[in-house]
Amino acid sequence: MKPSKLIFQILSVILLFTSCNQHPEIGLLMDTTARERWAKDRDLFVEKVNEHGGEVTVKVADSDASVQFQQALELINSGIDVLVIIPVDMTVAAGIVKMAKKSQIPVISYDRLIRDSDIDFYVSTDNINVGEQMADFLTTVKPTGNYVLIGGPTSDNNSFQLHLGWMNVLQPLIDKGDISVIKDNFVPQWEPEEAYKMMKPLLEEGLKVDAIIAGNDALAAGAIKALKEYDLAGDVLVAGQDADIEAIRNIIFGDQTITIYKPIESLAFNAADAAVKMAKGKDPTDNMSFTVNNGHRLVPAILLDGQVVNKQNIRMTVISEGFVAEQEIFE
Ligand code: GAL
Repeated sequence: MKPSKLIFQILSVILLFTSCNQHPEIGLLMDTTARERWAKDRDLFVEKVNEHGGEVTVKVADSDASVQFQQALELINSGIDVLVIIPVDMTVAAGIVKMAKKSQIPVISYDRLIRDSDIDFYVSTDNINVGEQMADFLTTVKPTGNYVLIGGPTSDNNSFQLHLGWMNVLQPLIDKGDISVIKDNFVPQWEPEEAYKMMKPLLEEGLKVDAIIAGNDALAAGAIKALKEYDLAGDVLVAGQDADIEAIRNIIFGDQTITIYKPIESLAFNAADAAVKMAKGKDPTDNMSFTVNNGHRLVPAILLDGQVVNKQNIRMTVISEGFVAEQEIFE
């Protein structure tokens, strides 16, 4: 056999072998599982990858960016095929992406966009639209008055996107003089205590608060705790997101106005499908043309829709879709 023919045959075998990776090894780096939704994301993601014959190694950083960096090193060195990241801190995560790409490992940015990095795929909710839905609902109920905005940490790109959505709706009303934003802060952690600490002095000062838009249900819960101490829970509109059980209960009892229900199952399944395709050397984008600019490139992306959950539609949304069980709510 001619040497050129032999080389060709060897190359074909290698190609066949690499593109038929039937047991993809996927690494999943998580920020935390302390907030309810993330345990669901993890379970659904792992379930789908397993269905495709793959394995997932999950590492949870407990909201410590340097721990996440270390965990990324371990996963990369363990020989994973694809890395999926829910970043603790988008700047640190950009460094993780650099490392992974050096080892030829494709990266998916999950839920939170990793800016200024060479990520291959992004799966999330349309977070600007989620912010708009929150502000739309509250301003329809209360088109005038004093609003407080509690944003999430600035290490999370979603915090900015939500804020953008809030302001898209609020700015025209502020310009008309109908609404005043009396406090607008990004807090350092997605933790209830942060919102509590932010609300407490405002209420102590006796400022009139008509509505609070919080970045997620944990922050909403902290704000409600402060409102309760001043006997104001139920009088002030409160928006959050994630459809946490506590938020659903608060909505039923009238202490919270709305939450946003994110399609976690779709998010996780889409990310899992893409990860498995990439591990098999296939292009996960098919004929997708939608992209998101992350400051470095136009990233092929899937952005799903969030849905408003209020007192009237709890049964038709989170319960009927099996996101929460009715018994769980009243436990
Ligand atoms: C955000 C996410 C929210 C919420 C929060 C806290 O990035 O979009 O749904 O869960 O993190 O973990």
